[in-house]
Amino acid sequence: MWPDYRIQNLFGIELPIIQAPMASCVFSEMVVAVSEAGGLGSLPCGLLSLEQMRNELEAIRRQTSRPIHVNFFCHTPPQVDANRERLWRQRLQRYYVELGVDQNMSVPSANRAPFDDKMCDLVVEFHPEVVSFHFGLPEEKLIQRVRSTGATIVSSATTVDEARWLEERGCNAIIAQGYEAGGHRGIFLSEDVSTQAGTMALVPQVADAVKVPVIAAGGIADARGVVAAFALGAAAVQIGTAYLLCPEAKVSPLYREALKNTTDAQTTLTNIFTGRPARAIMNRAIKELGPISENVPDFPLAAAALGPLRSKAEAAGSGNFTPLWSGQASRLARELPAAELTKRLATETRDKLRSF
Ligand SMILES: Cc1cc2nc3c(=O)[nH]c(=O)nc-3n(C[C@H](O)[C@H](O)[C@H](O)COP(=O)(O)O)c2cc1C
Repeated sequence: MWPDYRIQNLFGIELPIIQAPMASCVFSEMVVAVSEAGGLGSLPCGLLSLEQMRNELEAIRRQTSRPIHVNFFCHTPPQVDANRERLWRQRLQRYYVELGVDQNMSVPSANRAPFDDKMCDLVVEFHPEVVSFHFGLPEEKLIQRVRSTGATIVSSATTVDEARWLEERGCNAIIAQGYEAGGHRGIFLSEDVSTQAGTMALVPQVADAVKVPVIAAGGIADARGVVAAFALGAAAVQIGTAYLLCPEAKVSPLYREALKNTTDAQTTLTNIFTGRPARAIMNRAIKELGPISENVPDFPLAAAALGPLRSKAEAAGSGNFTPLWSGQASRLARELPAAELTKRLATETRDKLRSF
């Protein structure tokens, strides 16, 4: 029925379809819908407080007994560099003046803390079946604690070297994240975005380099992409952008409109919103400040300075300063409930496989 069952067997799921964890856009409702449909629902915790994580995990465990996936950031905490911060705010000064905002205005900001003991306590308590990390892996003692819960450990690789590094440290499966992917790149062994290959080139090379099963991510949004991922040696797919038009996605009307109207040529990699490279729909901030800037404060500190501009612009209906994360295949996204999308992706993939 499926060309490869390694990921279904490893995760205990029916379909080789993983809804990508997408911080700020995916919460319990989507996770439950996808897991109940037979795929793997994924809760991103990168922007959640401990209390929010607990609430989301309680809501998920109440509504489904199917396997779930919980995702954390594991970046090195940044050093605050006052000079760099001052120069970056100077660069933004003309926008503060233009929009009439106080650059020190307080804007509720997200957590973006790396995985730590307290988050690990929640993993121990809620024992998600799959735990993944973005930006490498946390320190070994935390990995050991996660492993002792029986969870399967996964992380994203953006190069063959990163995939080997993750396998050597005990990852049970590896997400090969191609250049097309929306949101933050998992890149962690280098800062050089010119090292980043597309899904078509990356997946087979990662599949050749590691023994653990590979999950393809980046630009996959319909059955054609899923079939291609299997042909390239992946055992499953992780799909992000295509789930952003589901009603369960917490995406503002402004962001939703941008996603619906974006073409393959309108996204780019930028570091100006957070300090790390991520794919987003081109807007004024990216055009004028980036797309890649050497002066931006380290991840995640860069987000603070743009916060007041984003708030003010959004209140006036403008996405000029909003990070509109999107992969290159947003035009293939369909406005379907997440369960329906998951089931259709599976049925259409099986139909396509039979047609060869
Ligand atoms: C809005 C958005 C937010 C994302 N947030 C996360 C995240 O919190 N953690 C993570 O591991 N990956 C995150 N990603 C990357 C996805 O896991 C995945 O690699 C990507 O969506 C795949 O490419 P696609 O968007 O073309 O399907 C995000 C992607 C998007 C589009």
